[in-house]
Amino acid sequence: KIIVLDYGSQYNQLITRRIREFGIYSELKPHTISAAEVKAIAPKGIIFSGGPNSVYDDGAFGVDPEIFELGIPILGVCYGMQLMAQVLGGVVEPADNREYGKADIDVYDRDAKLFKDLPQEQTVWMSHGDLVREVPAGFRATATSPNCPIAAMDDDDRKFYGVQFHAEVQHTQYGHEILRHFAFDVCNAEANWSMDDFIDTQIQAIREQVGDKRVLLGLSGGVDSSVVGVLLHKAIGNQLTSIFVDHGLLRKNEADQVMESLEGKFGLNIIKVDAQDRFLSKLKGVTDPEQKRKIIGKEFIEVFNDEAAKLNGIDFLAQGTLYTDVVESGTDTAQTIKSHHNVGGLPEDLKFQLIEPLNKLFKDEARELGEKLGMPHELVWRQPFPGPGLGIRVIGEVTEDKLEIVRDSDLILREEIAKAGLDQDVWQYFTVLPGFKSVGVMGDGRTYDYTIAIRAITSIDGMTADFARIDWEVLQKISVRIVNEVGHINRVVYDITSKPPATIEWE
Ligand code: XMP
Repeated sequence: KIIVLDYGSQYNQLITRRIREFGIYSELKPHTISAAEVKAIAPKGIIFSGGPNSVYDDGAFGVDPEIFELGIPILGVCYGMQLMAQVLGGVVEPADNREYGKADIDVYDRDAKLFKDLPQEQTVWMSHGDLVREVPAGFRATATSPNCPIAAMDDDDRKFYGVQFHAEVQHTQYGHEILRHFAFDVCNAEANWSMDDFIDTQIQAIREQVGDKRVLLGLSGGVDSSVVGVLLHKAIGNQLTSIFVDHGLLRKNEADQVMESLEGKFGLNIIKVDAQDRFLSKLKGVTDPEQKRKIIGKEFIEVFNDEAAKLNGIDFLAQGTLYTDVVESGTDTAQTIKSHHNVGGLPEDLKFQLIEPLNKLFKDEARELGEKLGMPHELVWRQPFPGPGLGIRVIGEVTEDKLEIVRDSDLILREEIAKAGLDQDVWQYFTVLPGFKSVGVMGDGRTYDYTIAIRAITSIDGMTADFARIDWEVLQKISVRIVNEVGHINRVVYDITSKPPATIEWE
């Protein structure tokens, strides 16, 4: 296992992911972790992530200096390298030129452990305001760039390494190899983490945790809760009762499809609750996105409590919370981006104990798990769908009329994307109804109606995303169909923002 200490970079989960891709289990830990706690975990290596601060800021995130005495290899990335330099006696200063984006580095020594057998010149991704001006005693500089004289450093004896650039991002040409060198050559970690092991250990853990008690699962219709359902069914069979709340914020025909597949094919015991009116009345007049998310999340739990009260002896509530949800909803260090449904809306007085078997997995890992569990490809590769559903795709107040517009336009989008054979390439695609109206002309008449925005993105894990380069012809067809077939729409726009700076959903 290799642990990543969290200094607040938006990329820190990516480091964890990359390490897991090597088959090595990796987890993010708070930077406040003590040397004793690290020792108890006994990781093969430690990575200090990047972070938005300067090591000189008041209250800058530090590290328990005794961690350097444990004899465990450490890699510092960006802020992590600066922190390492500062603590061990080097000099960190503001850079003459802040660097953000691609940079070319020159590697001094191609025998240096991190750069072994890699080209001398490499393109990397930099994002920093400070830099290491002098390496600490025992270290040497191993790479340089025009704006950053010490772009990497190492101390082979103590197994301490630093890179100023972000080795974890795709734009760093040999980032993968550099991390591999650290993980395998420096840490001697073994690639022994696999999905099959994960299934076995989870099933065992679930059985131990649950005993002969009963578990209630909230099915949302999405991939995550479906995978949890199948996993739990495999672990505890009929001790699992699933409740599928139709909150009226689902896509067209979705409720029926969920029932057919999970109840019909996998034999889950599902209670379907029609709660459309309940949700809509709670959302009446509410326009703030965070408030909407919280209301939907809270209502979800309340419907559960109501349903569970009718059942006897339920002790556990299972949820499809992913690692991404946990981290983006705010760790000790990372800033809250938006409160994810599964995490943010939970009331304090929750009557159940939680089971969240996916809370250490990334989205694509959850899918791999689904496939390993024998779930059909279409279900597993279904695009992600947020817990608050179409409630956050109707911008502003949610009404049934507006939901219908989103449902109908979304169906057209899905049909055309499938027809164009793009459903595997585009990671997520949906329509949004921003609540404003604009002027149009149809036939001979002036119209004053709503706009539909199309959001279609490519991504690996939802953490970062780029807008999908969909053919103009396909977009045109979608636009024409939406305006013609969906009432009250006279304009269609395409969202061409990546994440960051935007998020995938509009709310
Ligand atoms: P954002 O909008 O944060 O979305 O860039 C990242 C991914 O997460 C999905 N998403 C959610 N999933 N509950 C969920 O289970 C939520 O509250 C939620 N909000 C966003 C979003 O669809 C995208 O795939």
